[in-house]
Amino acid sequence: MKVDVVLGSFYGDEGKGKIIDYLGTKADVSVRATGGNNAGHSIEVDGEKFVFHLIPSGILNKGTTAIIGNGVVVDPKVLIQEIDALKEKGRDVSKLRISDKAHVIFPYHIALDKLLEENRGNSKIGTTARGIGPCYCDKYERCGIRIGDLYSKDFEKKLETNINNKNKIFALYGYPEMDYKEILKEYKKYAKTIKKYVCDTTVLIQELIAKNKKIIVEGAQATLLDIDFGSYPFVTSSNPTIGGILSGSGINAHQIGEVYGVMKAYSSRVGEGPYVTELKNETGDLIRELGHEYGATTKRPRRCGYLDLVALKYAVLVNGITALCMNHLDTIGKLPEIKLCVAYKNGDKEFKEFTTNEEILLNSKPVYETFKGDFQDISNIRKYDDLPERARKYIERIEEYVGVPIKFIGVGAGREEMIVR
Ligand code: IMO
Ligand code: MG
Repeated sequence: MKVDVVLGSFYGDEGKGKIIDYLGTKADVSVRATGGNNAGHSIEVDGEKFVFHLIPSGILNKGTTAIIGNGVVVDPKVLIQEIDALKEKGRDVSKLRISDKAHVIFPYHIALDKLLEENRGNSKIGTTARGIGPCYCDKYERCGIRIGDLYSKDFEKKLETNINNKNKIFALYGYPEMDYKEILKEYKKYAKTIKKYVCDTTVLIQELIAKNKKIIVEGAQATLLDIDFGSYPFVTSSNPTIGGILSGSGINAHQIGEVYGVMKAYSSRVGEGPYVTELKNETGDLIRELGHEYGATTKRPRRCGYLDLVALKYAVLVNGITALCMNHLDTIGKLPEIKLCVAYKNGDKEFKEFTTNEEILLNSKPVYETFKGDFQDISNIRKYDDLPERARKYIERIEEYVGVPIKFIGVGAGREEMIVR
């Protein structure tokens, strides 16, 4: 059976949790392949709200194996908090599996993330300060400590070397140094707690595929936050696009089935960086309030704007998106008038190809098409044809532009408030 992938099409926070939740109820296995606890996936089940940062939300479905793949960076403290919170709510976590190849976030990564950000002056990235970037840096520097290393005889030496090296940086900036013994003690405790979940998930995933199990991959972050394809340097330090899904899990290209791109009927971004359709006015504020656009991870107010089809088309091409999942149709439908960005204008030049060139993006203005809003209450609608004509017109223009169908349409926050086509 083919593996289906859910990933973000824009700057994150598209509501991936909702579609993952829907598909997850039909899956045997749920996998996270990239990022770390910079992600925040909110899910509402029977009136109970869950926010996941690390554990695949598929864990909520009885019997589902939830795998944290090799491409993820794991903060064990956060992981254990998430495990405990699930247990407290009576959820079964016995089928959680963590890759022995996933890299571990240590307190010095978090301190470094903050140090670097504080010293960027006017060119801040607006990171989540969870140590994600510095942990991936160590991975590629080849001094990272992996989950499997926590159980090796070299662990103490590796940790001591890393802490000594990072302390030199902290000293240089006048920041407090880290205490090796304290961190060692803390992480030995964490290692013991999570040991029962650790295994070679690459082998496990291939075994599960061979057994014809249904697997879905829960993407984190999004296309425009991708280190290669996003608006560099205002990006995260991994590849949330399809390539990262493969290298972060050990699933091969032939095994991929549907690639679902999640998007909102409008757009949002947290952190710094160019954002062509951003509305720095009352309409942007209104979208933020109507859509409750405040970060699940950092609680920061999100920047909001109209949907950008230039960027969406790019996401479709880069990832091979086969179908889209659009959230918040109800939210955008509350505006009297809606706009869709169909091209960028830079000076006299109009173009439809997304670029990651910061200068061009910063100087580009959106070219809009205007649609009628005011959809009224659509939250109880479950059949596409029952949507008001003005809502269908909006949807069909998006489909026509990007060339893939919108298969799932969110009409409210609840689990059931969705149209499936
Ligand atoms: P989900 O999975 C939105 C953004 C940060 C910052 C940049 C780099 O919930 O969609 P990092 O801490 O990763 O080094 O920060 O990336 N960012 C996200 N924005 N949703 C996310 O995840 C994000 N993960 C990272 O705001 O601009
Ligand atoms: Mg988020």
